[in-house]
Amino acid sequence: MRRLPLVESRSAVYDEWPPRPGDFETIPLLRDSRGRSYTYLRLSVTDRCDLACVYCMPPSGEEDHTLRRELLTFEEAARLVSVFAAAGIRRVRLTGGEPLVRKDIVRLVDLIHRRTEVEQLVMTTNATRLSELARPLRDAGLFGVNISIDTLDADRFAEITRGGDLGCVLAGIHAALDVGLDVKLNTVPLRGRNDDDLARIVEFAWSLGVTPRFIELMPLGEGAKLPQSMRMDTDDVITVLGDQLHRTTATGVEGHGPARYLSASDGSGRRVGFITPMSNDFCDTCNRVRITARGDIRACLASRRAINLRNIMRAGGSDLDLAWAMVWSLSGKDRGHYFLDADEHEHEHVGMSLIGG
Ligand code: GTP
Ligand code: 5AD
Ligand code: SF4
Repeated sequence: MRRLPLVESRSAVYDEWPPRPGDFETIPLLRDSRGRSYTYLRLSVTDRCDLACVYCMPPSGEEDHTLRRELLTFEEAARLVSVFAAAGIRRVRLTGGEPLVRKDIVRLVDLIHRRTEVEQLVMTTNATRLSELARPLRDAGLFGVNISIDTLDADRFAEITRGGDLGCVLAGIHAALDVGLDVKLNTVPLRGRNDDDLARIVEFAWSLGVTPRFIELMPLGEGAKLPQSMRMDTDDVITVLGDQLHRTTATGVEGHGPARYLSASDGSGRRVGFITPMSNDFCDTCNRVRITARGDIRACLASRRAINLRNIMRAGGSDLDLAWAMVWSLSGKDRGHYFLDADEHEHEHVGMSLIGG
């Protein structure tokens, strides 16, 4: 067997390169030992961000930023996506940090769109730079954006994001809709910070024809440092939204996951999504795999096990070598994240921006 370098990282525990079985001759579909299939890739293109939300990024940014030479190049990223596509990935979400701070991001979207077989290319963004980038991104082949917005009050927005300008984000949301991108809004509810904004966010989203989604705070990175009392479970949010929602319409995890949906009480068909990793996790139906900005593959947000695909490529590894690393990484994937059993399960408390959310 050709020797490849041991994988390394500053943020994860690594195993040694596993032996490749002789009968591994074509790129297999990605499955794990629990029978889950993988069709959705979250590819982080940078761990930097122009905001620093209180539950995500330390005030002065992450100390452990990826250096420029450590970042996946666009060629490397596109190659990985094409290997993943051959292994069954159909949908790719570009994440960060904030993906729009990566220089020439439109070129990467174009490259992935033109060169790979993925059916849908989407992005999660804070939208601060979307007003100028929405059209070129759409033209380059981006299908949609999930936009983070935690309040509609400009002062509060600046507090939660540590300096963000709500006006830019609103302009970004409108630009995305104007050019025909599929748009969803993401809000992390925080008791005492934005709980009295949630109903307004729902009305705002609905007025634009957009579905708002509430994400339960996860104990990762800065999110783990916030007081327990700030956490709001989905039931708390449903209580706050009161008679905006029809309470008996809850769906299971839908579509590409992980959100569940409730319908508006007025019968209009409008919906609110809930992402419930803490109160009702969706790990049994997990269909996603993650690549960090430096090229680590991570089977789960909470996984401590990772292998560096960039090193494999830079050492001259083949597409089969990459596919084997993907299979190996998923083979050891746990049933769930065990965020609530911190005593028994060690967690990698790496912030969301370093993993890609
Ligand atoms: P859609 O494809 O549009 O459904 O997007 P998404 O909800 O998968 O992506 P998005 O980036 O908008 O994610 C919203 C939130 O859900 C983020 O905070 C993610 O970290 C969280 N999330 C997404 N996938 C997972 C997952 O597999 N596990 C956990 N625990 N959280 C996830
Ligand atoms: N818990 C839940 N969601 C988080 N996000 C970032 N950090 C956390 C956390 N600790 C969300 C953002 C954004 C997406 C990229 O991840 O709000 O919607
Ligand atoms: Fe930046 Fe998004 Fe993290 Fe906020 S949640 S600091 S916008 S990466």
